[in-house]
Amino acid sequence: MTLPVIAVIFSYLLGSVSFSVVLAKSLRGIDIRQHGSGNAGATNTLRVLGKGPAIMVLALDVLKGIAAVWIGRWLGGDYVWVPLLCGLAAIVGHNWPVYFRFRGGKGIATTIGVMASLFFFPALYAGIIAILSIVFTRYVSLGSLLFVLLTPLFLVFSGQIGPYLWTSLIIFVFAFWRHRTNIVKLVQGKENKLGSKGGKRV
Ligand code: G3P
Repeated sequence: MTLPVIAVIFSYLLGSVSFSVVLAKSLRGIDIRQHGSGNAGATNTLRVLGKGPAIMVLALDVLKGIAAVWIGRWLGGDYVWVPLLCGLAAIVGHNWPVYFRFRGGKGIATTIGVMASLFFFPALYAGIIAILSIVFTRYVSLGSLLFVLLTPLFLVFSGQIGPYLWTSLIIFVFAFWRHRTNIVKLVQGKENKLGSKGGKRV
């Protein structure tokens, strides 16, 4: 039982490494949470630092999610719920990082890594629709919300209604909670579009 607990704690600590905060600090000496939308994530890194750093943050944040699930598989032994808890712990760490006064991001990149590692095809189908929605509307937040909303639906369609579905529903709740300001702005038609500079709000 000790190894699964260590795996979950380690996943939280790994998720807490906020790459957008680290990169913005080392490249420009700024706190990304004081710029753009104020979010510690790849979308805001694109706004504030540009494409290269944004791609790096996106890749590293996705990798955190993948790594957490694999650590869970490795140390979880026969406990099937360990990779699921490790994935959730990484997302919690990203959203509420212990190293950065619990002010992190919205967890979508890490969620992509977690969901793709746990249930690849439902996440892939949802991801395709999410990307198309971003291409057509230029609202990254809308695509993010569609991704976490549609993945559980595709899980149900594929007959997976066990622990995977519960995990995806918890992720859905995290993502909607973290995007609550984006949702209000989307409804009001004031949400930042991809490519716009954005106003501080988190
Ligand atoms: O994943 C974050 C994205 O959905 C929204 O980011 O900076 O526009 O609030 P942002």
